[in-house]
Amino acid sequence: MGNEYEPLQQKKAETKQKVGLLGCISLIVGTMIGSGIFASTSNVFINAGSPGMALIVWTASGVLVALISLCYVEMGTMIPLSGGEYSYYSEAFGELPAFVFSYTSTLFLKPAQLAAILLACGDYITVPFFYNDCNVEDRIIISKILASFILGVVIFINCVSVRWATNIQVVFTAAKLITITILVITGLVRLAQGFDNEFKNAFTGPSLKISSIGYAFYGGLWAYDGWNTLNLATEEIKSPNRDLPLAIIIGIPLVTGCYVLINVAYLTVLTSSEIASSNALAVTMANRVYGKYAFLIPIFVAFSTVGAANGTAFSGGRLAYAAARKNHLPKVLAMLHCEKQTPIPALVVTCILAWIMMIPDSSNFTTVMNYCNFVAWMIYSFTIVALLWLRFKRPNVKRPFKIFIGIPIFVLFFSVYLVIAPFYENPLGSTYCLLVLSTGILVYFLFIKYRIVPQFIMEFFDKFTLMVQMLANLYFPNTI
Ligand code: ARG
Repeated sequence: MGNEYEPLQQKKAETKQKVGLLGCISLIVGTMIGSGIFASTSNVFINAGSPGMALIVWTASGVLVALISLCYVEMGTMIPLSGGEYSYYSEAFGELPAFVFSYTSTLFLKPAQLAAILLACGDYITVPFFYNDCNVEDRIIISKILASFILGVVIFINCVSVRWATNIQVVFTAAKLITITILVITGLVRLAQGFDNEFKNAFTGPSLKISSIGYAFYGGLWAYDGWNTLNLATEEIKSPNRDLPLAIIIGIPLVTGCYVLINVAYLTVLTSSEIASSNALAVTMANRVYGKYAFLIPIFVAFSTVGAANGTAFSGGRLAYAAARKNHLPKVLAMLHCEKQTPIPALVVTCILAWIMMIPDSSNFTTVMNYCNFVAWMIYSFTIVALLWLRFKRPNVKRPFKIFIGIPIFVLFFSVYLVIAPFYENPLGSTYCLLVLSTGILVYFLFIKYRIVPQFIMEFFDKFTLMVQMLANLYFPNTI
């Protein structure tokens, strides 16, 4: 039986450079490791209740992410188009869900991810200066100003040069790896020295609520988020059928191992209640064990978060492009600068939205991260439904990587739980989030399906696009 997606495949973009296996592994590992392992650990501990349970959550998050990634490999190799979920939703469910996905991702998820990562960065830079100070409000304001400034710099660099953006990524990745190695070695050495108190009664703690386990997973899963990065850029992979599964099978266990060992390291230095109450864990730990070199850790962590922000900003452009080439987002969002070849409009819009999300008093790393998880796991659940639906609707399409059907079914149950559990704890926040997302449906019917918007508004949009295009020297690429 032939591959029904072949004709689409022929249309796929000619890309300048194709990524090999090593490139694939560094792309996922690089996007996954960022702020979470340094900033969301306390959320895991607060909600998991005991060190043993926290370690289980970290490990189980890794296993869940590995399983869902394998489901994504089936989708990515069956529908080898860039744009990830956008392409899968189009194939399985048609236009509307695909549109709502790209609308949500471009206008909410990407900016919120950037905001969360940089809020963590701001915390790491400011906490050392306010370490014994109780002036929390001042610190938060300074932290947000710094976060906004760094976001501006990251976006500026991404606008000015693709080369710069990829080159600085090398520096940030190095900082990330150094920090992780230092922490892992510290943990192993301290464990060998007998600092194992926290492991003795590892499971004693308050009884757990069903929703708090969900939030504990949110903390862990945030640190793993980015596992689907390769699906956004499938067209750029040299041999996706081989490299997609291999990169997942090597990359995710690697990251899971690091995360569990870093948590062990935290536990050899700090008590679980210290971990639960710290908002810059690696700083607290560094002050205990690294003496006069302690100041290096927050610097490295800040670099690591900026690296994650840089990677997240970089991938946003591809998503907007995949949707805009089907007229699902304003074309201007997919335009590149004529000389610099950078997606300036998409980057600028993302930056402004992320700035706005940082403003409210209630906006801090934890709240923004939880919203991101809520929306992201809704998106992931729908992809699994798409996988199951396509197995049923198009059983004969060639699937170079076909996963055992029990896995997507299990993953679907778990991801639905992850979406529903927070409703118990924060029904208002979740409803609010859903309302924002449902505006996507309205926009679809008004602007795309029925074009009921008055002609003059459409004309205004066209003129506006043309003006921006000329002013900023932009073009709409045939390939990306
Ligand atoms: N895992 C990353 C971190 O811990 C966040 C990734 C955000 N998501 C993404 N698709 N880039 O900072």
